[in-house]
Amino acid sequence: MLSQKLLDQVEKIYAQLNIDGQLLSLRAVGIRKTQSLLGGSHSVVTYPPLDALRALSAEDIFPNNAKTQNINLYIHIPFCETLCTFCHYVTGLYSGAKDTPDNQQAVTRYIDLLCRELRMYSTALQHPTIDSLYIGGGTPCILSTSQLEHILNEARSAFSFTDETEVCVEGSPKTIMAADGEHKLATLASLGVTRLSFGIQSFDAEVLRLAGRAYAPDVALGACKRTARFFGNYNIDLIQNLYHGSHNEILLNLECIAQCLPPHVTWYNARFSEKRPQGIWMKNKKMAVNFASEENIIFGRLLIWEGMKQLGYKQYDGNRFVRDTGTEDPFKKIRTSVTRTLIGCGVSAYSHNESHFYRNTISTKEYSEHILNGKFPITHGMTLTQDEKLAASYVVGLRTAYAPKIIQGTTLDSIYKQKIEHCVKLGLIEKNAQNRWALTTLGRLFEDETLLYFYSPQVSERLHTKTMV
Ligand SMILES: C[S@@+](CC[C@H](N)C(=O)[O-])C[C@H]1O[C@@H](n2cnc3c(N)ncnc32)[C@H](O)[C@@H]1O
Ligand code: SF4
Repeated sequence: MLSQKLLDQVEKIYAQLNIDGQLLSLRAVGIRKTQSLLGGSHSVVTYPPLDALRALSAEDIFPNNAKTQNINLYIHIPFCETLCTFCHYVTGLYSGAKDTPDNQQAVTRYIDLLCRELRMYSTALQHPTIDSLYIGGGTPCILSTSQLEHILNEARSAFSFTDETEVCVEGSPKTIMAADGEHKLATLASLGVTRLSFGIQSFDAEVLRLAGRAYAPDVALGACKRTARFFGNYNIDLIQNLYHGSHNEILLNLECIAQCLPPHVTWYNARFSEKRPQGIWMKNKKMAVNFASEENIIFGRLLIWEGMKQLGYKQYDGNRFVRDTGTEDPFKKIRTSVTRTLIGCGVSAYSHNESHFYRNTISTKEYSEHILNGKFPITHGMTLTQDEKLAASYVVGLRTAYAPKIIQGTTLDSIYKQKIEHCVKLGLIEKNAQNRWALTTLGRLFEDETLLYFYSPQVSERLHTKTMV
């Protein structure tokens, strides 16, 4: 079924949406699909974006210890078995029990620092309740089962967990299919982990090789099947246009999804840092031809949407798909939320509360110095003024179709009304059935680009992005 017939159907959708014509009008106002990182991330995952943060210290954020009732906790594990050619995350090479004693010691030291940071937050916020815990990276599952158990137990003793606390841990096909993979999954499930998430990126052997992933497609399929035995809810990540970006690769990915039907699929658009191999290849004239054109990227996204629909998936933003509404990803909403408190522990982790968005140092050395001196390792951040909260409510709200919060007295209010009008004219935004501003199908095809347009003037200036109004 996933074949020529599907391609024909998508050709029709492409023509009905008049994509070629729309691309011309959007280009005229500076909107186009690029493959460059957006403010430090591969999609608009946070507001403010990471590159807009400026030097700031913990004293600016926590003038006094303040009891906080409920928080969401993120723990960063900056170790991976492979350094993938496309990835811009703060991480380093580590191969677990096979690695040198020095590297193993460095990992043990990092875990110790992390646990100290958990306890520092526990004291400062007076032992809050955890609504959700996300252990991400990096590849947390490269740690041994007992190290993962230790971190989970430390988090449990530092904070209060309830029966409703959601716990997600990130793995990778290789760590899941390793000799101890089955035991690790069983232990994580028995320790209350409710969801596993791992990157597959592509089921195409050649794309995986170029991405430096170091496994074959059957390992990725095996990882899905093994994970399904222990977790009712799990997510796989795929990336569109990682290399070649062919429609055949998308069809192949759809066929592999059909074989294991993961409860949740995140299918990102590839965006590359200029410092990583993939970003360098894109700038290289000879190699750039291997990456898809803007028209092909749009066609590919429509192919993904239609193919996933035919496999029984419901799409709940431009990148995310579920088979049942109950398996939607709560963590992505929390990370982008402006009203819920997120505490990020570990190198490079970011956090937000009512008044600030802030980030830990990205240097392991500096992280260690701060923690050993009993100081929070926060080095960058931004104060969330009323204007920034208004901007955040649009950026986040438009993606999730929540109503943007009307914040009285903000100086940006009238500018945002003009922005909305402009996007309505361009066919990117409309009122949905609940009478809320939401992205149209065209808007979803240019999701990140449309959200960028709602960055505040201050943030845009910091990122040197063009503003249209
Ligand atoms: C921390 S990693 C996931 C877990 C694990 N390390 C793995 O790779 O299996 C988070 C996800 O971000 C996505 N990602 C990383 N770099 C990306 C890029 N340059 N463009 C698009 N997506 C990217 C990948 O899909 C990746 O799985
Ligand atoms: S994609 Fe995953 S495994 Fe690869 S370098 Fe990034 S975090 Fe590590």
